[in-house]
Amino acid sequence: MNTNAIVIWLTGLSGAGKTTIAQELVRQLSRQGVKACNLDGDQLRKGLNANLSYSEADRTENVRRTAEVAKLMADNGIVPIVSLISPTQAMRSLARSIVSDHRFVLVYVNAPLALCEQRDVKQLYKKARLGLVTQFTGIDAAYEAPHDYDIELLTAYQDVLTCTASIQQYITHAYSTI
Ligand code: PPS
Ligand code: ADP
Ligand code: MG
Repeated sequence: MNTNAIVIWLTGLSGAGKTTIAQELVRQLSRQGVKACNLDGDQLRKGLNANLSYSEADRTENVRRTAEVAKLMADNGIVPIVSLISPTQAMRSLARSIVSDHRFVLVYVNAPLALCEQRDVKQLYKKARLGLVTQFTGIDAAYEAPHDYDIELLTAYQDVLTCTASIQQYITHAYSTI
């Protein structure tokens, strides 16, 4: 196993910027000749995780399966960029333990709930406020902000390229061989 094969794990509220940042980072790494792949909650929930709801138990299973896939990728020379809400400390700790601590890079994509709701990229906050979507993170399901992150991105103030530059800088310094 290449112990420098890292997993980049983005956590944050819906609308915080996880998918946008993950996709831009994959583009940049690919241009640099690094094989990278985005494992995104919305995508995975159309296939591998299609049978899972947004209950705490199913979110835990969603995180577990995704971490196992990320581990397989990392073991085989691909850098997985995971973008999952992964709302609780317990879920993120599970992912960290599956992937193994020394190569797990936790990125907190931090934006205030009010801003995420204002962005409302998929109109899901609106539906959640109307009760049409339930167990919605930040509305009627918890999001526990992480304290053990490696990188914090404040997407209310930093643009996408500034955010990806922070991740690039971190991995260049911490994992110089990728
Ligand atoms: S989790 O908590 O890690 O299992 O969530 P994840 O797999 O990342 O899925 C989040 C995306 O699902 C859509 N969606 C919801 N999110 C949160 N709560 C509820 N109830 C919900 N229902 C649907 C939404 O598009 C999330 O994507 P993002 O990119 O975060 O907006
Ligand atoms: P998530 O996947 O976390 O739900 P998305 O990437 O789908 O979030 O949506 C984030 C929204 O915020 C997009 O409309 C994006 O253009 C906007 N945005 C503004 N600043 C940033 C930033 N620094 N990083 C990521 N997205 C940003
Ligand atoms: Mg997304």
